[in-house]
Amino acid sequence: MSNTRVATVLAYHMRSKHALDRYADGPGTLDWEAQPKAFRDWSGTERVALPRDVAVSEIPWGDLPAARAAQPLNAASLGSFLRLCVGLTAWKEYAGSRWSLRANPSSGNLHPTETWLICTDVAGLEDGLYHYQNLHHALEKRAWGNGAQAQGLWLGFSSIHWREAWKYGERAFRYCQLDLGHALAAVSYAAVLHGWRPRLLNMGSAEIARCLGLDRAADFIGVEGEEPEVILALEPCAGDLAPDWKHWAGSPSLLDANPLYQWPVIEEVAEATRGTPPVAGPVIAEPPADHEHDMDIRAAQVILKRRSAQAFDGRSVMPNAVFRRMLAGLLPGGSPVWHMWPTVARVHPVLLVHRVEGVAPGLYALPRSGVAKPSLQAAFREMFSWQPADPELPLFQLVAAQTGKTARTLSCHQDIATQCAVAFMLVAEFAAPVAADPAAYRHLHWEAGMLGHVVTLEAEAAGWRGTGIGCFFDDADHEVLGLQDDRFQVIYHYAVGMALDDRRISTLPAYE
Ligand SMILES: Cc1cc2nc3c(=O)[nH]c(=O)nc-3n(C[C@H](O)[C@H](O)[C@H](O)COP(=O)(O)O)c2cc1C
Repeated sequence: MSNTRVATVLAYHMRSKHALDRYADGPGTLDWEAQPKAFRDWSGTERVALPRDVAVSEIPWGDLPAARAAQPLNAASLGSFLRLCVGLTAWKEYAGSRWSLRANPSSGNLHPTETWLICTDVAGLEDGLYHYQNLHHALEKRAWGNGAQAQGLWLGFSSIHWREAWKYGERAFRYCQLDLGHALAAVSYAAVLHGWRPRLLNMGSAEIARCLGLDRAADFIGVEGEEPEVILALEPCAGDLAPDWKHWAGSPSLLDANPLYQWPVIEEVAEATRGTPPVAGPVIAEPPADHEHDMDIRAAQVILKRRSAQAFDGRSVMPNAVFRRMLAGLLPGGSPVWHMWPTVARVHPVLLVHRVEGVAPGLYALPRSGVAKPSLQAAFREMFSWQPADPELPLFQLVAAQTGKTARTLSCHQDIATQCAVAFMLVAEFAAPVAADPAAYRHLHWEAGMLGHVVTLEAEAAGWRGTGIGCFFDDADHEVLGLQDDRFQVIYHYAVGMALDDRRISTLPAYE
């Protein structure tokens, strides 16, 4: 049974690769007018508007790791928290088109991730299961009438695959999972600012679906289904969860009345990767020695102004301190994100350094665990030198070279990969984790999305900017690194540089 699931995952991964001579299967044509709706409503539910103020707006970015008292659990702190992780941050307008941006980025700005809340004994809110409606910063009350349950707040996530598959076809499942990693990281930052600690619950997909009502098949007839992903407890407010809702309300809105294509492999790989998130293992909480923050910029401001660069200037040189702080954040304990991720690091950055002060252009590796370095070394090209490149960080130069053109080619010919200061390939330990538990396929992508999010916020805090790159030529990456089998696979690219803003696009407030 498990062997079949592993085979399904491996086959999906293979066929969803982009290659230099052939992109993974996707729609031949796109009708932009028929794009699925960006927001799902639950009609027939009671809607509760949340306060919009950010309660923790004064905390400097540099003080993020400091311990702080937990904000009281009420509608105001909940509204503040949601704004900083999954709320809208701006509306953009250009040539008659209008689109919104959120605290969490998403491939193609398609946002497949839906947010759910379970609240009990939260001042100003009736106990129940709520869908978070990002558009209005409001909660839609989906279920209530649970037996006795301690006070608490739990956050759930589901994915609507069609939102991504509409545009990206078969590769879309990967993007949904990378997006989820970004959302989880965004939650970590918002939570630490409120003095809360997110903890992944030891719950399988079926139980998550039951808690969030995603298994109520009759409610989803004729509309897009939602794939259960994960539920988090926000400690110290919440513990374990066992809801048994007596009353349900609402129907989900249809997002796309005329889907032109079908990608059955997405549902196949979704099924094969259902399971429990990584919950066992040591949480490494000590920041690396190097990780000192002295940045006065307000953390909430960093989060709310985060954007993906659409273009970089191709010439700014990243200061060494910014580069090192960004890398320190990627190491276990180096960012609040890793307090939530109780598993040994399995995704390791390879950097294509174009323009960084004091770092020769070239290819570098940053193994994130002690055991990873020898296995990466054994799997990568023999000619790589593995020269230590930093007095404190586990950064190694593989080869000195100008890698701008290579980065662009590998990233589906996108200019951002060469105009940035540093491009990242995120290399996942692959065959072994997936064979041991096919659900790891999701978790590796979550970890990669989390790494991208750390990079992006650290860059933003220092006046730089990042952009996720989901489009890359998988096996061309592997060829450059010398990977000859699937012990490791590259699962995400990232670019960081000095952004060029498009001044024709105007910015409007997230919520009037
Ligand atoms: C998983 C993922 C993959 C992405 N891939 C690309 C890409 O290949 N090229 C690109 O220009 N932007 C890419 N982006 C950036 C998105 O287009 C961007 O996040 C989205 O438009 C929302 O804008 P924002 O990040 O400013 O909120 C990606 C983002 C994510 C999260």
